[in-house]
Amino acid sequence: MTSSATGVCIFLTGLSGAGKSTIATALDNAIRTKLKRTVTLLDGDVVRTHLSKELGYSRADRDTNIERIAYVASEVVKHGGIVISAAIAPYEAARAAARRRIEANGRFVLVHLSTPLAVCEARDTKGLYAKARRGEIDMFTGVTDAYELPTQAELTIDTSTSSIDDAVATLLAAITRDHA
Ligand code: ADX
Repeated sequence: MTSSATGVCIFLTGLSGAGKSTIATALDNAIRTKLKRTVTLLDGDVVRTHLSKELGYSRADRDTNIERIAYVASEVVKHGGIVISAAIAPYEAARAAARRRIEANGRFVLVHLSTPLAVCEARDTKGLYAKARRGEIDMFTGVTDAYELPTQAELTIDTSTSSIDDAVATLLAAITRDHA
């Protein structure tokens, strides 16, 4: 049995403070109002309060977190839905595994939010970079833990040089390209 529309996963990846949640929320709004479609939004912080509550920030735990997100996303795209993932997803192998799982059921669009570390750290909306620099948080992505640059991204957006509106327009175009 096939669904009439091809499902799509917009998979945002980038440092804390790169703009993932902001863009995800704005895109969610745009899809609902302009495309009249519902959206499943898997925001990293929210996923970690429910689905991944017991997980920490070791590589193994981050990989498990991304695997769970990919599983849910693959179920959504399977019946033609639109899903936005907004987690750091720092490891290339986990992103590639997510792509394989989701592409088995629909489209996968990897979007690297490439906002430079210095800008993310200057924003420090949650005060976590300051804590990481003071040694109060371990394994903080970009400071004391790795962020592997994506080599397979379909789109790269730097929120320090491009507006949220432009980013949303670019992502909407990517969704509607095949999502009739
Ligand atoms: S991921 O690596 O597993 O993809 P995820 O996006 O779910 O990470 O969670 C990242 C969020 O957790 C950050 O935005 C931040 O608010 C919080 N956080 C707490 N500790 C850390 C840490 N050590 N590294 C990164 N983010 C952390």
